[in-house]
Amino acid sequence: MEEFETVEAEFDEETHVGRLTLNRPDALNALSDQLRQDLVAGLQWLESHNEDADGIALRAVVVEGAEGNFCAGADISEFSEASPGETSGQHHYEFIQEFPVPIIAKIRGYCLGGGLETAMACDFRFAHSDARLGLPEVDLGLIPGAGGVQFISRLANPSVAKEVAMTGDHLSADRADELDIVNRVYDDADLDEATREFAETLAAKPPLAVQAIKDAANVATQVGLNEGRSYDRRRFEPLLETEDHQEGARAFAEDDYDPEFRGR
Ligand code: COA
Repeated sequence: MEEFETVEAEFDEETHVGRLTLNRPDALNALSDQLRQDLVAGLQWLESHNEDADGIALRAVVVEGAEGNFCAGADISEFSEASPGETSGQHHYEFIQEFPVPIIAKIRGYCLGGGLETAMACDFRFAHSDARLGLPEVDLGLIPGAGGVQFISRLANPSVAKEVAMTGDHLSADRADELDIVNRVYDDADLDEATREFAETLAAKPPLAVQAIKDAANVATQVGLNEGRSYDRRRFEPLLETEDHQEGARAFAEDDYDPEFRGR
């Protein structure tokens, strides 16, 4: 376990899963500048476990908030000290999107504004049935400054993005699920169990293939179909040379053991 000022990080060597907890519960884990920096530092600390590994050690990450809330958005008390441009904090969103390992946002309680933008920058969102998600910036005379409208427009559609961002209303987890803003909704302890199982499932897959899929799916949101297909092909070819491809093919042919992938 590594403790940063506002984030706790843990890495489980056996499962290859990392965990980050946003830890400012008195402010509902609002995104202060410190928390944004700690989030990036926590991801870098998790990634540092690859340095001495025989292959790839870190293979999935779960991000959650301490004490029952994911994150109530940008820290409003810091707005008076900086212009909205300075507080939009693009860096941690880009860092999450470009982080090579899949990241699952586990969402309980409030997930608002920059909190929802952070969750949408992640690769997956697993929510508790009591979660409340929204983009309330409109009521401060602002818009989500870090891509919230763009993210929802891609996850759901532009009309849903307009509805959520123009009203600022909080959505229930079930409504967010219907709109494809979250992947799964669970009650109580089922959320912990399902998120853990999903992270471990991803972590048991060939890591280089998983990383290539994350990258290619991100590229799919930016380019046309033919350019995207060429990109997939470029990511596919080097995987043919990997030990993990040989291991997967051997396990399939022999059909009597579970493959072990190393990220090589
Ligand atoms: N930034 C800074 N502090 C925040 C915060 C934020 N975005 N959201 C909540 N807090 C703080 C509150 O100021 C309060 O601190 P205090 O106990 O020192 O007074 C504490 O977190 C608890 O919040 P509170 O408002 O008392 O809880 P609640 O259950 O009544 O309401 C919310 C919860 C999320 C509905 C409400 O806090 C809220 O609307 N927050 C702002 C959400 C927002 O607009 N986010 C986008 C910002 S661009």
